[in-house]
Amino acid sequence: GIELGKLMASTGYITLDPGFVNTGAASSAITYIDGDAGILRYRGYPIEQLAQDSNFIEVSYLLIYGELPSKSQLEEFTSRINRHTLLHEDLKRFFDGFPRDAHPMPVLSSAVSALSTFYQDSLNPFDEPNVEMSTIRLLAKVPTLAAYAYKKSIGQPFLYPDNSLGLVENFLRMTFGLPAEPYEVDPDIAKALDMLFILHADHEQNCSTSTVRLVGSSEANLFASVSAGIQALFGPLHGGANAAVLEMLEGIQADGGDVGTFVERVKNKEEGVKLMGFGHRVYKNYDPRAKIIKKTADEILRKIGGNDQLLDIAMKLEETALSDDYFVERKLYPNVDFYTGLIYRALGFPTKYFTVLFALGRLPGWIAHWREMINDPATKIGRPRQIYTGERQRDYVSIDNR
Ligand code: ACO
Repeated sequence: GIELGKLMASTGYITLDPGFVNTGAASSAITYIDGDAGILRYRGYPIEQLAQDSNFIEVSYLLIYGELPSKSQLEEFTSRINRHTLLHEDLKRFFDGFPRDAHPMPVLSSAVSALSTFYQDSLNPFDEPNVEMSTIRLLAKVPTLAAYAYKKSIGQPFLYPDNSLGLVENFLRMTFGLPAEPYEVDPDIAKALDMLFILHADHEQNCSTSTVRLVGSSEANLFASVSAGIQALFGPLHGGANAAVLEMLEGIQADGGDVGTFVERVKNKEEGVKLMGFGHRVYKNYDPRAKIIKKTADEILRKIGGNDQLLDIAMKLEETALSDDYFVERKLYPNVDFYTGLIYRALGFPTKYFTVLFALGRLPGWIAHWREMINDPATKIGRPRQIYTGERQRDYVSIDNR
């Protein structure tokens, strides 16, 4: 493939592939997807097994280092992450500068970008020990930054991390706890969130991961590259879809809950009306993550409450779409985002914050891809070509004669 690409370039021909629908940009050993069969595996392990039996820290290790950790490796990895959860006090002050109603995604991205000013040893992407340190710092500090982005938005004081807790428990406490009150982490909520993070942890060359790799291909450091990935995830066609799904379900509810009319509007391609949480560039079958999440949504909403009416609307919507030729012909099935918003909402997160949770989950995937890219001798700076369609050549006209 690489040789053919070089040959084509030397002949002056350019492959035009908007959206990179069929253009491979990298060889990767991290995640395998068979979109037609609905298969997803991290480092060869089926997502269903990891979601059921593993945990987010272990999956992060697996994605980044390629193998499941031994007991002692996992202990060491966990304790290193725990030792780095604190933020520099000056970095905390960054949050004061943002408007209170700022969307938490650009706040998070800015704070991650700022990490390379606090840890200048991260600037050389080929310095192994420092890349290792940046990896641990990101895994440890992004949950703290994410919790502070939330606290900022509701005007509550920031809590220091409690490193006797696990990563997800610590994050929940820093998000929902108050300094003067003890915060009991509900183990069912922690488990559900941990599993959602596992399901989001990697998805090969998606928009945000490709962004991380492209930015990193210029030898920009890990923090800068991940910060760019967070911005790519912000878009409603990517990570922002989980919030858009909930807004769609609430809209249908407000209009009286008529699913059929909404589906007709989608099929008529009314401007701005899409079935959010449906369709995927790679999956032309049921997204295996959506299958697991649908079951969890049902269990969690039953157990801790939440808006069951919205779950009913979601299920009806799915049923209607899956028996409609428009969606069948286009192979449009629920994707990972269709049911996640309902769970996040039941766990107490506001809609604006959903995409931040996606970013927390995707973090180890971004790190694993950046490291794979930087260590791959075949990596070249990403630099797509174009077909120029503008004016061929013309002479400058002075302003008085235009
Ligand atoms: N609702 C209605 N129609 C759709 C949808 C949808 N959600 N998704 C695709 N289609 C239609 C398109 O209009 C197109 O129809 P046409 O052939 O009549 O023109 C056909 O299906 C093919 O769709 P494309 O836009 O070519 O598919 P593409 O691979 O470019 O887009 C995407 C994939 C962006 C995910 C798209 O399906 C979409 O916008 N879905 C809704 C947003 C969403 O849920 N995003 C989350 C994706 S998963 C993730 O990031 C974690």
